[in-house]
Amino acid sequence: MPARRVDDALNIEDLRRLAQRRLPRVVFDYIDGGAEAEITMHRNVQAFRDVTFRPHSAVASAPCSLRTTVLGTMLELPFLLAPIGSSRMFYPQGECAAARAAGKAGTAYILSTLAGCPLEDVKASTRGHAWYQLYLVGGRDVATASIARARAAGFQALVVTIDTAVAGMRERDVRNGAKQLSSGTPRQMLPYAWQIAARPRWLLDFFRDGGLMRFPNVVLGTGPMPYEDAASALAESGVSWEDFAWIKDAWQGPLVIKGVQSADDARRAVDAGADAIVVSNHGGRQLDGVAATLDILPEVLDAVGDRVEVLLDGGIRRGSDVVKALCMGARAVLVGRAYAYGLAAGGETGVAKAIEILRSDIVRTLNLLGCHDVAGLERSYVTPSFRKL
Ligand SMILES: Cc1cc2nc3c(=O)[nH]c(=O)nc-3n(C[C@H](O)[C@H](O)[C@H](O)COP(=O)(O)O)c2cc1C
Repeated sequence: MPARRVDDALNIEDLRRLAQRRLPRVVFDYIDGGAEAEITMHRNVQAFRDVTFRPHSAVASAPCSLRTTVLGTMLELPFLLAPIGSSRMFYPQGECAAARAAGKAGTAYILSTLAGCPLEDVKASTRGHAWYQLYLVGGRDVATASIARARAAGFQALVVTIDTAVAGMRERDVRNGAKQLSSGTPRQMLPYAWQIAARPRWLLDFFRDGGLMRFPNVVLGTGPMPYEDAASALAESGVSWEDFAWIKDAWQGPLVIKGVQSADDARRAVDAGADAIVVSNHGGRQLDGVAATLDILPEVLDAVGDRVEVLLDGGIRRGSDVVKALCMGARAVLVGRAYAYGLAAGGETGVAKAIEILRSDIVRTLNLLGCHDVAGLERSYVTPSFRKL
């Protein structure tokens, strides 16, 4: 029987179902969906399933250490919470709630540029580390201003996402009328409004939290960027390698480049001054048909593994997936949907539950593998898949 409450969730899929029950379809599908035929989104998940473990048995059990150092900071967990735009639509004050849960668990939260809560509030919500993810929406001056705010607020690293030249084609969003519901006339909204009417509890929360959010961290001449302008603003704001000179100049701190999908781009990222990179295809939400991130991790590690910290995201739904990524050489991973489902199901409590599910999965997996410290995980504990790319 599927879990009926966040407390009863055994795995991330339980939280996903609870999120589906609480959210209007248009919001649930925004989280759950991917680009075009969703091939890459599913491939990310499948790549973890294709890796098999090779345990060391009859190893005396011992307390497990999950501590991981990323960019010189010790985290209690080997996973961080990935930047997820519009989290405030999933739950009131969503970004603050997620950051708070991450901090309490001893890990870092990465705040998206396209968030509904001001970055200062988010930083103040967590006693843990927070990184700021940058899109160049609004252009260089707007980005420079938000970089200065993020630095002043105490964000510890800047994450620049490079896989978003334009927004991916997420067909579920189009079919559900995401655009009409966020910016249409009442007449244009009408055919899609049943999704909202079917979730009165969410609707009440949404209005109590101020209704349709703006983007308070993208301040244009006219004020915070309106919600409906996001897709067109993204299309006009792709980052290029030349931009990293001024970005680094403005930031003056640890730089992470997210969205690396080949050895060549990994080398470019290092040349551009990255301290860490994230092998990521945006959870299969951008270019459909690219390889699973786990499948390109080896070539990236061969190219730059001795020069930068290599993180990975995409498809992580269980703690055993985190362990597999670490065995394959990632220093740490980011989780996206896994905590977004928790947030949508139950706010901070739901994120805490998602984190706890992954944490206890990792501990159990380490014990069963016969390796009690994530720092000791390496290739001999897994057989990678040899599927053709
Ligand atoms: C609903 C949603 C919104 C996202 N928004 C952003 C964003 O604003 N910036 C960004 O760099 N990545 C964004 N991502 C990508 C995530 O940071 C991460 O790369 C991805 O979710 C990892 O895949 P997973 O969801 O399978 O864990 C988003 C992902 C989702 C699911």
